[in-house]
Amino acid sequence: MKRIPIVVAGCGGVGRQLLEHIVNCRALHSKQGLALRVVGVCDSQSMLVTNDIFADELNDDVLTRICVEKTRGSSLSALGDIDDCQVFDYKEATMQVIDIAGLLGRSTGLVVVDCTASSETLELLKQAIDSGCCVVLANKKPLTSTIEDYEKLTAHVRRIRYESTVGAGLPIIASVTRVVASGDSILRIVGSLSGTLGYVMSEVETGRPLSEVVREAKRLGYTEPDPRDDLSGTDVARKALILARLVGWKINLDDIKVESLYPEDMAPGTLSTEEFLSNGLPLLDNDIGGRVRAASLNDNVLRYVCFIENSRVEVGLRELPKSSSIGRLRGSDNVVEIYSRCYRETPLVIQGAGAGNDTTAAGVLADLVDIQDLFK
Ligand SMILES: NC(=O)c1ccc[n+]([C@@H]2O[C@H](COP(=O)([O-])OP(=O)(O)OC[C@H]3O[C@@H](n4cnc5c(N)ncnc54)[C@H](OP(=O)(O)O)[C@@H]3O)[C@@H](O)[C@H]2O)c1
Ligand SMILES: *[C@@H]1O[C@H](CO)[C@@H](O)[C@H](O)[C@H]1NC(C)=O
Repeated sequence: MKRIPIVVAGCGGVGRQLLEHIVNCRALHSKQGLALRVVGVCDSQSMLVTNDIFADELNDDVLTRICVEKTRGSSLSALGDIDDCQVFDYKEATMQVIDIAGLLGRSTGLVVVDCTASSETLELLKQAIDSGCCVVLANKKPLTSTIEDYEKLTAHVRRIRYESTVGAGLPIIASVTRVVASGDSILRIVGSLSGTLGYVMSEVETGRPLSEVVREAKRLGYTEPDPRDDLSGTDVARKALILARLVGWKINLDDIKVESLYPEDMAPGTLSTEEFLSNGLPLLDNDIGGRVRAASLNDNVLRYVCFIENSRVEVGLRELPKSSSIGRLRGSDNVVEIYSRCYRETPLVIQGAGAGNDTTAAGVLADLVDIQDLFK
């Protein structure tokens, strides 16, 4: 039986779903000769860790209790005393993970899984890699820091996986990796990588005003609590940077031209979410409506995409042929078109749901299973 020790950082929608998947896949993994052994779980304030990291683990009962408490909104420390476990506060937690990584990195190996939405995990992840451990991320921030940080994190390509950072469970990173590994040169990547913006742009195409569509998307739970977090394009820019770096370009987030769908004077510091939705957003309806109609006259549609070509990365609205995969897109699916020497005329296309706790956590789990050969 191959045993993979794991520390899970982040116990929100994705982290909890991952713990549930791990528990529910016990029988399946055991048939494959695989045992995922969760030795520690962290949230933003504390860490729960098994006393004997070499031999013991947080059992399924404890993992389930963690999910229940965290769903209630409590901190991990609210779990109280658990047999053979200790709780550390935030300051100690980081040191604990680094210690565990040092101890297990040299012996059984360890995977540190980042399901946080924080940039603070970066140092810890770099240390884990330095100690010989593996890292699996759903969190984009550590991979979109400076190029120096990126190079440290990815210094041992076999020990890091981050499929879920782009398109959740969709095999986008895997596909780009395979194309690059085969020596096929990538000419262009075009991606609709925000479910929210994909939905919004395909709805405005039918003639509806932007403001109405965004308010509806918020009501349906498709957007962040403040929809400007989606409309700014920053999240898409991070995904684009991850893809561009994977292709081999040494660029930073600052090098990416990002078109925000709202102007500076409607930024969160100036207008509240409510003011933005009711007073700000309607002022943008005419402009977007006009651009949608102009695109339509050229047999095109307007889509919010990342465009990676000739060492340049741009994120924003583009006219694309109605007949292309991204042009045909409806709803909140993600779509990526990869053009390369082998896929020059008809691109390699990957499409499907690009968000959701379940799909994202499934992608993280598949990454964990994918690195099993590094464990005894
Ligand atoms: N949900 C999706 O569809 C999706 C898709 C692709 C990628 N992702 C990425 O997956 C990650 C997790 O998403 P989510 O929706 O699960 O977020 P979330 O619900 O906000 O959960 C974040 C978790 O991280 C914890 N945390 C924050 N800072 C931390 C730190 N410094 N150290 C340890 N833990 C920390 C939080 O602790 P508390 O519980 O104490 O607040 C919380 O448990 C994000 O990076 C997101 O971008 C999500
Ligand atoms: C993901 O989990 C969070 C936190 O539990 C929840 O609020 C959200 O609705 C979930 N998202 C989906 C798409 O299920």
